[in-house]
Amino acid sequence: MRRNIVTGNWKMNLNHSDSTRLIDEINTKEIHLDVELIVAPPSIYLSSLHKKQHHFSLSAQNIHFEENGAFTGEISAEMLSSLNINYAIVGHSERRSMFHETDEIIFKKVKSLLKYNVNPIFCCGELKEEREEGRAFEVVSNQLNYLLSDLKEDQIRKIIIAYEPVWAIGTGLTASPEDAQKMHKHIRESLADQFSLKTAENIAILYGGSCKPENAKDIFSQEDIDGGLIGGASLDCNSFLSIANSFS
Ligand code: PGA
Repeated sequence: MRRNIVTGNWKMNLNHSDSTRLIDEINTKEIHLDVELIVAPPSIYLSSLHKKQHHFSLSAQNIHFEENGAFTGEISAEMLSSLNINYAIVGHSERRSMFHETDEIIFKKVKSLLKYNVNPIFCCGELKEEREEGRAFEVVSNQLNYLLSDLKEDQIRKIIIAYEPVWAIGTGLTASPEDAQKMHKHIRESLADQFSLKTAENIAILYGGSCKPENAKDIFSQEDIDGGLIGGASLDCNSFLSIANSFS
C-alpha cells in the first residue's frame, strides 16, 4: 500500500532555538493519521532533535557517498545510521546546480544510504528551458536511469522519489496538478517496466516546488502523487501541517 508522506526541507534556515521551537510546536498539533511526516533540518541539529521525534521522523538533507575519511565538512550514511536517522535527501536540484553533483555522484550516495539502511529521498526534475523544449520526460528519465538500471527490486522499494520541477522551487510557480500527475505517472510506469507493477505501486512519489496550503489539496488529489517535499512552507508550523492535512 502506498504511503502519504509530507517532508519538510528546511534547507539552511533557522537557528537552534527556532528549530527547537518549530519542532515542539509540530509535536503539539494534530496530524492526519494517514500521513507520515518527515523533517529534514540542517544536519547540525539532527542529534539534538532526535529525541523529539514524536509526530515525525528525521531526514538529513545530504550526505557524502564515502563512509569516512578526509572529507572536511561532510557527513556519511554510516553516521546517520549510528544516530538512527531513517532518511536522507539526495540529488536536490540545489545540490545538482550549486555543488555540481552529477547523476553518478548522486547514485553513489543512494548506494551508500542503502548499505546503511537509511532510506533515500531521491530528487529529480527538469529546468524551465528543458520543459519549454519538450524534454522534461527525457531529462527526468535520464536522472532516474541509474536507479532503474542498477538497483535491485528490494532496494528500489526503500526509496522515496521526489519530482521537483526546478523552475517551481522557491519561485512561487507550481506545476499544474495535471502536469505534475503526468510526470508522476511517467515515473511510476518506468518503475513498473523495470521492476514490477506491484513494486511501482508501493513507491511513494512526492511533488515538490512551491507547494503551499492553498495548492496542496489539488496536487495531492492526483492519482500518482503521494505527498510533497516542502521547502519554504515547512518553516512555519501552521502552513506545514495544513499541507500535511491536505489529503482527502
Ligand atoms: P519550495 O522548495 O517548497 O520552497 O519551492 C521545495 C524544495 O526545494 O524541496
